[in-house]
Amino acid sequence: MRIITFGTYDVFHVGHVNILERARAKGDYLIVGVSSDALNMSKKGRNPIYSQDDRIHILKSLRCVDEVFVEESLELKEQYLIDHKADMLVMGDDWEGKFDHLKHICDVVYLPRTPSISTTETIEIVKNLP
Ligand code: CTP
Repeated sequence: MRIITFGTYDVFHVGHVNILERARAKGDYLIVGVSSDALNMSKKGRNPIYSQDDRIHILKSLRCVDEVFVEESLELKEQYLIDHKADMLVMGDDWEGKFDHLKHICDVVYLPRTPSISTTETIEIVKNLP
């Protein structure tokens, strides 16, 4: 069973590991689409702290991740699922319902986010340290 998931994974944290491990446990091969620097800029209105090459490097080093590719455009989701022969798309439940239109290609599953941690919040905390 081939699982696919997407995200930026900037300033890598435990919420990221948790969802990747849970996604991998749904099958036996995990493919991660990492937002390019340009896509992150258009999605979140800021450049990532870590470059796309470094974010890819970190993800590739994880035992639960089998393959990593760069997600260049949100419009290409359907194509990415087909190209990577995905059986299941896993996303955090901050995306609940947003990918249901892809259910004709593969299963779509939303997993609960790890509470109390996010990249944006971490950046804000560090910025505001005295
Ligand atoms: N994620 C999670 N639990 C968290 C944070 C993220 O399960 N506490 C999941 C998201 O649901 C997504 C994946 O990790 O499936 C990548 O999310 P990403 O947007 O890169 O991380 P965030 O920490 O949510 O980043 P930001 O604060 O910039 O939105």
